[in-house]
Amino acid sequence: MALLEVKRVWKHFGGLVAVRDLDLEIEEGEIRGLIGPNGSGKTTLFNVITGIYRPDRGSVVYRGEDITGKPPNVVTRKLIARTFQQVSLFGGFTVMENVRVASHMARRAETGDRDGEQKSIMDALELVGIAQFKDKLASDLPFGHQRALQLAIAFATRPRLLLLDEPLSGMNPKETAEMVHVIRRIREAGVTVWWIEHNVTAIMGGCDKVSVLNFGQKIAEGKPEEVQKDQAVIESYLGTGEKVA
Ligand SMILES: Nc1ncnc2c1ncn2[C@@H]1O[C@H](COP(=O)(O)OP(=O)(O)OP(=O)(O)O)[C@@H](O)[C@H]1O
Ligand SMILES: [Mg+2]
Repeated sequence: MALLEVKRVWKHFGGLVAVRDLDLEIEEGEIRGLIGPNGSGKTTLFNVITGIYRPDRGSVVYRGEDITGKPPNVVTRKLIARTFQQVSLFGGFTVMENVRVASHMARRAETGDRDGEQKSIMDALELVGIAQFKDKLASDLPFGHQRALQLAIAFATRPRLLLLDEPLSGMNPKETAEMVHVIRRIREAGVTVWWIEHNVTAIMGGCDKVSVLNFGQKIAEGKPEEVQKDQAVIESYLGTGEKVA
């Protein structure tokens, strides 16, 4: 059984079809990429999975359970975490405090194991490589580190599935390379990762398998080297030579 199954999902906004009859499965333990032109429905798909939008048709099944249209707080409790395309942090809180909020929310059902909580916060910061900045204000971090902090926040909720929406956008090449390593370490820690990205080099190098959307439809899926050679993918996305966000 796949960890996540998206079954014949449709999502419209008025007359616009953002996601069209989409079937997709994510296996436990993989790093999956999701690519496609601007406006091809990638973020909308994550929004449908995490309960921000209810699909017009179709279903989302997670670990065999139908979670279609369940609200985001319920989805989070099922150990699905995500990061957003725009960085959103508590700028006036320190790095550690930002992670503590997430960690605390995830553990509110547990009884106050403060030492355990502190350790998991530091583990998350170490994993993304920003533990030395733990007492800095989040707003004082350079952009690349703010993105890393976003990842630490998501990781601190101890997800089983982590959805990342363009975690590399705005990063310089050095930060990009570091982040790809971080994503691999997150997988080694037992988390399944599904990752939207426009940085094709990074995604082709960092994923086990890549799915490609165009106008809300899946047009290709497979190992990076297969997808890169796919004619429909080259025509709609890779071969355009156009600069994308
Ligand atoms: N809340 C909304 N209301 C109306 N239209 C929306 C809404 N959210 C998304 N759309 C539209 O749905 C389509 C898919 O958008 P989406 O954000 O999913 O694309 P994307 O693949 O994530 O693009 P990008 O690579 O630019 O982030 C676009 O045409 C977008 O304008
Ligand atoms: Mg998007």
